[in-house]
Amino acid sequence: MTRDTDAPAADDVLPDGGDAVAEGADDVALDPWGSSTVADYRKLFEEFGIEEFDQLLPEVPKPHYLMRRGVIFGHRDYRPVAAAMRNDDPFAVLSGFMPTGDPHIGHKLVFDEIIWHQERGGDAYGLIADLEAHSARGLTWDEIDEHSRDYLLSLLALGFDPDEGELYRQSDNRELQDLAFELGSEANYSELQAIYGFDGETDVSHMQSVVTQMADILYPQLDEPKPTVIPVGPDQDPHMRLARDLAIRMRYFKVTEAYASFEADEGERALLRETWDALDELADGDDTTVRCVHAAQYLAHGEAAVDFEADRPTVDVPELEESARASVVAKLQSAGMEPFRPRTRFFDRQATDEAFEGLVDAVEGEKRVYEGHVDSFDLDVAEAEELARQVEVDHGGYGFIPPSSIYHRFMTGLTGGKMSSSVPASHISLLDDPADGYDKVKAATTGGRETAEKQRELGGEADDCPVYELYAYLLANDDDDLATEVYEECVGGERLCGGCKEQAAELMREFLADHQEKREEAKELLAELDIDLDTDRA
Ligand code: TRP
Ligand code: SF4
Repeated sequence: MTRDTDAPAADDVLPDGGDAVAEGADDVALDPWGSSTVADYRKLFEEFGIEEFDQLLPEVPKPHYLMRRGVIFGHRDYRPVAAAMRNDDPFAVLSGFMPTGDPHIGHKLVFDEIIWHQERGGDAYGLIADLEAHSARGLTWDEIDEHSRDYLLSLLALGFDPDEGELYRQSDNRELQDLAFELGSEANYSELQAIYGFDGETDVSHMQSVVTQMADILYPQLDEPKPTVIPVGPDQDPHMRLARDLAIRMRYFKVTEAYASFEADEGERALLRETWDALDELADGDDTTVRCVHAAQYLAHGEAAVDFEADRPTVDVPELEESARASVVAKLQSAGMEPFRPRTRFFDRQATDEAFEGLVDAVEGEKRVYEGHVDSFDLDVAEAEELARQVEVDHGGYGFIPPSSIYHRFMTGLTGGKMSSSVPASHISLLDDPADGYDKVKAATTGGRETAEKQRELGGEADDCPVYELYAYLLANDDDDLATEVYEECVGGERLCGGCKEQAAELMREFLADHQEKREEAKELLAELDIDLDTDRA
């Protein structure tokens, strides 16, 4: 199958308003393999359709402090996950880690996000993206083994419960690789080129690591479809868009609203909806059958032109500027005397014959069966979606729900600029000696003024201070009062950087000491898990 023949129609709009067809990545602001900084988070909302997380806060039961403090700033389609949490319905959380170095405090954000969702009842998955580390970053298998162990130990030490979740490495997961292969048949080279900027020099393993990540993201739904959240940095958003798109392309049926036997795109459908509302009122409950030709009269010439009385109504089609209107009038005209009536349509995308027949049988109430689609006059779109998914799953399909994502801000490096694994002073590794952690915080750049006097007068710039970030992202933990106190005292000029850093450094030392003790304890747990950390490959 080529991408062209089964490309989703232009009207495949996802619930977040994004285009089902992933857009080109001409703007390199989001590059999964580039340097992860985002100059302007607002752009992500405008250009990429990521939504603000804040607006969703009231829907989230007891939000995590990273959500309350705006560290988790954006999401795609997180509502179904929040709803599942509230209603005690099944949902899942998954994220992955490239074992390219030590896990550091930036990774801790994601570990915590996974664990928090797990504590709220989600099936939790943590994976080691070893295929990606090998293909995209060129790490040796020995290095990968060592780092993998470190990531897993920290995840366990922070509270990941392996009994309620699954940890795996990509290279070791056969089911995952089978799924990746299946998904690969729905994506082609031009698309990867448009999304990731791949070119003729890109090696095949790198492309394979992309479909593997797509499989990672959909893996939690292999046993049954469920809302799934992927906590990641915004650099991973291109992956999310493609995964959401592939989830839809794999579906057997597409459910839409329709008004007659012909197909319409989203723009045309809006006109049809508007026409139905008007004509339904005009016909006013008497026995008049509203027909397509009436709808054409209405759309071409307005309400006054509609003639329910005429024996053989006709419509002269004027030259219409707006292309959706022109095309829909033409369709209505050729449908002529066919009744014009709202209905819910199950469109056959790639169902087996058996599944299509199964669907026809399963649709209760008034229905009409056509070549390639079934119209139901009694089910609403939500009910139809549910049924379509059920029939698909009953006939061996995946029935994927487009995965959701949440995005956290990147931490600023301790030395200013970006936090980078390759600059030790810029980050704190979860394996750092607690005393070194203390020293790094003491040496960090601050948002303070040149002199204590000025600081008292003007207040510090907590919003631009890596030390304040440490409090907000990590050190204050669940204690909002502490985070607020540091902020208020800083900007109010009551707090000076020396003491502030001393307090932060001390908290960091305690955190690292405690974390490393827990890592020791987690070793036993890790050993019991069925994860091969000795790959023995060249
Ligand atoms: N690409 C991710 C990274 O660079 C790692 C990863 C692989 C991942 N599979 C994933 C992240 C699935 C989230 C979900 O860190
Ligand atoms: Fe940063 Fe603390 Fe100094 Fe404020 S007082 S600028 S938060 S180090």
